Amino acid sequence: MHFALCELAMEQNNVLFSSDKEIRDGMDVELAARAFKEAAAVFMSRYVNKTEKNLTADCGDGVVLQVKDGVSPEEFEAYAAEELANNPSAKISEIAGNRFLSIPLPEGYRYASYFPSRQQARMVCAESGELMPAQLGEKDHYEGQKTVTQIAPNDEAKNFGMCYVFSLGEGHFLIYDGLGDRGGDEEKIYNVMRSVTPEGQKPVVDAWILTHPHFDHTAGVYQFATRYANDVTVRNFVMNMAAGHRFHMKLWYEISANYACWIDGTLRAFPEAKVWKAHTGQTFSVGDARVEVLYTQEEFHGVEMPVNDTSLVTRVFLSGKSLIFPADISGAEECQWIHDIYGSYLKSDYYQLAHHAWDTDVLRFYYDIDPEHMLWPLRARDWDRETMWTFPATKVYVEEMNAGKRIFHIARGENITLPL
Ligand SMILES: [Fe+2]
Repeated sequence: MHFALCELAMEQNNVLFSSDKEIRDGMDVELAARAFKEAAAVFMSRYVNKTEKNLTADCGDGVVLQVKDGVSPEEFEAYAAEELANNPSAKISEIAGNRFLSIPLPEGYRYASYFPSRQQARMVCAESGELMPAQLGEKDHYEGQKTVTQIAPNDEAKNFGMCYVFSLGEGHFLIYDGLGDRGGDEEKIYNVMRSVTPEGQKPVVDAWILTHPHFDHTAGVYQFATRYANDVTVRNFVMNMAAGHRFHMKLWYEISANYACWIDGTLRAFPEAKVWKAHTGQTFSVGDARVEVLYTQEEFHGVEMPVNDTSLVTRVFLSGKSLIFPADISGAEECQWIHDIYGSYLKSDYYQLAHHAWDTDVLRFYYDIDPEHMLWPLRARDWDRETMWTFPATKVYVEEMNAGKRIFHIARGENITLPL
């Protein structure tokens, strides 16, 4: 059944990328609804089993999220003090004045957050699973030059999306997403890893972060998995995917293809890898890199969202540099949330622009980040489009580019490797 659903989802995914609007509008909604639900159920049952084993939460199953407004800082601190007193393994942390409380339980965990600017407390209650450990790397220090590579999508094959490979040293890596699956870009990912991995050793992906369930971020990872599962070790995946019911039914084909095929298929290809659910406010290390989780789709739980706005927003600290990855987040409310919650704390050296940087409200937090370097996996065909530079965000970027205000690293067909 898995493969039949996969095929159906793939077929419909081609419809999604059809330029013919009539074909897309003519989709059989009833069939779509049925296949969507079945595909999501298959994915979830796999994923929940996986989480029982590896202690990760899911996309909705077994997790309850509570939100309480009108909570004063004193009330939250009193609650936190009680939890800390009752549970010796509970821990509290802070990012920019926001408070995060981790409470491991014999079965599952609780994770509370408090945002003073919103007077809001939130609580994730996971029936099973474990909180992410502090270190996902095999070691906490690797020798060797640290770099980040922006993988360029194959423009001729009309591939697109984003993929970043951090080389951490000694053949260990941290990766973000993997582009779409057109044009063999998985080979570029492998070649980057192979070129800096010692002879006779398999490259080791200590952590592969999957930002959101979209073709141009996950299909390439699946393609990579089908081709290189025996040549590479993947130790951990990190994600926080929204449950299928969070999306409009019209998106069923994208979502089912992602959950039932690309993500599930990737996890099957690396059965030893652990899968961790990231929550806002968590930090974890991957070798010498420290990763901070700044936003997950849980912050807008209960609201039907465009898929891009369910992206994880994270920041990497490595070799004294900071690199922020907002993935494809674009919505006004979500971008405003990031600005309101963190403000100038977001200041970073490197900023990853969404490949579709024209269609976004990121200017709401862009000036907080105020980066020196801009990483932009833009395709030549987009760069050359006349309308490209007429949008509010791209107008700002081109002005800054012309004024030499920031250093732009724009893909346009070529991988770009930066030393860190
Ligand atoms: Fe994307």
